[in-house]
Amino acid sequence: MSIDVVVLGSANMDLVATAPTLPKPGETVLGHGFATVPGGKGLNQAVAAARAGARTAFIGAVGDDAFGAQLREALTADGVDVSGLREAPGASGVALIAVDDAGENSIVVAPGANATVDALTAADLGGLSGARVLLCQLEVPEPAIVAAGKATGDTTLMILNAAPARPLSAELLATVGLLVVNEVEAAMLSGWDADPLTALLRVVPRVVVTLGGAGSRYADAEGARLDVPAPKVPVVDTTGAGDCFTGALATAIAEGRPMEEALRWATAAGALAVQKTGATTSLPHRADIDQLYEVTYR
Ligand code: RIB
Ligand code: NA
Repeated sequence: MSIDVVVLGSANMDLVATAPTLPKPGETVLGHGFATVPGGKGLNQAVAAARAGARTAFIGAVGDDAFGAQLREALTADGVDVSGLREAPGASGVALIAVDDAGENSIVVAPGANATVDALTAADLGGLSGARVLLCQLEVPEPAIVAAGKATGDTTLMILNAAPARPLSAELLATVGLLVVNEVEAAMLSGWDADPLTALLRVVPRVVVTLGGAGSRYADAEGARLDVPAPKVPVVDTTGAGDCFTGALATAIAEGRPMEEALRWATAAGALAVQKTGATTSLPHRADIDQLYEVTYR
């Protein structure tokens, strides 16, 4: 099978508790719901891309525990190629997630097996050079991301979703073709520049800044600027919405669609994801994305 989108990243089991409010430091709040949901930014983006219609492969690691088997199963159930998924001794990645009644969340990730994803894992993957898009996030160690970025051919676009935000090395930035960040990540990575978009274009050729319910903004080194509005939708749980946007964007770009259309289509996908609880449980299929896209932008 030839691959459109290769995702290098994390797989976590999300332990999701819903509560009226998020606890403050030292506070205990009584919740009203609980679920275990396959997640992790890498796994979410891989499943999002696969559901959006891309032939997708995942490179990463799970533990040798029950969660590891469930995470592998979640990927294969959506048709994601897992030949690059390793099993490491010990625990799988876990995310402790609290979601309040306004759909806001707070998340602690315990990386577990994700911390074992190394340069070898990335370099090991045969199909990488043929893929249209390599999609990475920051929940696995940087050497793996750098190695994967360097292993891609000229025809592969490396998309980095710099989440959760941390400082990026020049070596990593040199491999990035498109940076996807939210406003907070953009501010941090640009060193709190007054114009983060312009500042980031000094280090990467193309940037998308996601703005939640306000849509997104795009700019590239050739001088293109796009403002993409989002449809107004009821927000139930934003968990995984950014991953959904990014996975759908990677899919549309792999299909060769123009950037404005790709961004609008990805925005429609993200708007569907915020309307359901959980990460992978909220990721839409292609037909539903197409439908909201048509209604919103035509
Ligand atoms: O982006 C959402 C994801 O962040 C969750 O699925 C959780 O696992 C954390 O990695
Ligand atoms: Na969601």
